[in-house]
Amino acid sequence: MTMPYERRRAPAAEPRPDANTLARDVVQGLTSNPKTLPPKLFYDARGAELFERISELPEYYLTRAELEILRSRSGEIAELAGPHATLIEYGSGAGVKIRLLLNALESPAAYVPIDISREQLARVASELAAEYPAVDVRPLNADYTMPLTLPPLRDGSRRLAFFPGSTIGNFHPMEASIFLRRVRRTVGKSGALVLGVDRRKRAGILDAAYDDAAGVTAAFNLNMLARINRELSTDFDLDRFAHRAYFNSKASRVEMHLVSLAAQTVHVAGESIRFAKGESIWTESSYKYDRARLRELTESAGFRLDRLWTDAKKQFWVAYLSAM
Ligand code: TRP
Repeated sequence: MTMPYERRRAPAAEPRPDANTLARDVVQGLTSNPKTLPPKLFYDARGAELFERISELPEYYLTRAELEILRSRSGEIAELAGPHATLIEYGSGAGVKIRLLLNALESPAAYVPIDISREQLARVASELAAEYPAVDVRPLNADYTMPLTLPPLRDGSRRLAFFPGSTIGNFHPMEASIFLRRVRRTVGKSGALVLGVDRRKRAGILDAAYDDAAGVTAAFNLNMLARINRELSTDFDLDRFAHRAYFNSKASRVEMHLVSLAAQTVHVAGESIRFAKGESIWTESSYKYDRARLRELTESAGFRLDRLWTDAKKQFWVAYLSAM
């Protein structure tokens, strides 16, 4: 006898990056020119919590605009996707957006949330399994920027990938194309992708969205240093680094940095890393897309742009993309 209930309740797999991997990533980033740190390090438990607060900030319009589009278009999405879809979500986060799709879709067969934040993933997956007893919930704790193996899924159901939050904008356009090509292979030739992407817009709005008055984004950015201190016993002085974010119009991206406020040396895994006063660690980019660039990107990855929706204020895109 099969025990679907037990299967659904299985804990997320735990490929926890060990301290050696972390040390290697950190040293490699900090000895590069310019200095960088991998953005995936944002999302420890505290980082995931801070990001939830970012999504509610008055300046951070992205989450609200995307939810507005998903609310008004979920019926259309359900119609395009058809019945018994298997949903695969890249970066499931707090699990708010997926409920709109699960509620709208006709008898969704399975839901595979993929997230790097282990605690949040386990919690959200068990909540959803309880709320949607007919859906086979299969959490995957993984870094989806690396090739990954999906849990075994029943064949025959259409695969619908969901990649919200303009996380695609956190990839360099070249890497975004490579990533989307992998998603295209994962969903197969009858599959589709619902993609959320932030629109290119006036610098003032973008600068404020990534440098809010309450300082939550600054805390989120600085939390990366706190996490590294905790997990690698490094000695970053959080008072001597400052959050800086601005729209680089030429590259069509918001750049996020941690700027060293003094000449200083930080010790990481036996290495001494020197910072000049004003030197920065580039922690994240968030690329912004106009319609033409978005079409170019998605088509380069083997998707056809079937629908492109925006919100009332024309701030955000949600695209429905079919495999070509
Ligand atoms: N995908 C989000 C974005 O690009 C991620 C994000 C929002 C973010 N605010 C941030 C990443 C601040 C780093 C720092 O909008």
